[in-house]
Amino acid sequence: MISSAGYTPAIATAAIEVDHTAAIAFGRLFISNPDLVSPIQTHTALKAYDRKTFYGGDAHGYTDYPTLDAAPVTEQLQSVALLP
Ligand SMILES: Cc1cc2nc3c(=O)[nH]c(=O)nc-3n(C[C@H](O)[C@H](O)[C@H](O)COP(=O)(O)O)c2cc1C
Repeated sequence: MISSAGYTPAIATAAIEVDHTAAIAFGRLFISNPDLVSPIQTHTALKAYDRKTFYGGDAHGYTDYPTLDAAPVTEQLQSVALLP
């Protein structure tokens, strides 16, 4: 059983450690953080996604977010807004 929807890394960790959830899937945060595992492992702030680019348009907002290595430091310091 894999749980998803609305998880931040902290909430996912609690779900696994406290609620014994088997695994958590990430959707939107994987779009804006294509190497999502790296910032989670290094406790680096995640980049926020832009929901205006979801569901339509072109590749902008889907495949052009930088990885942690490629992002300017100022972007790496941005905090992700809690998922509404
Ligand atoms: C742009 C976009 C496209 C999605 N496309 C699909 C899809 O084709 N099939 C699907 O089952 N879920 C799709 N989802 C839902 C995600 O798989 C996931 O369930 C949802 O984003 C909630 O997880 P999250 O809070 O980690 O983003 C999509 C979500 C987004 C934002």
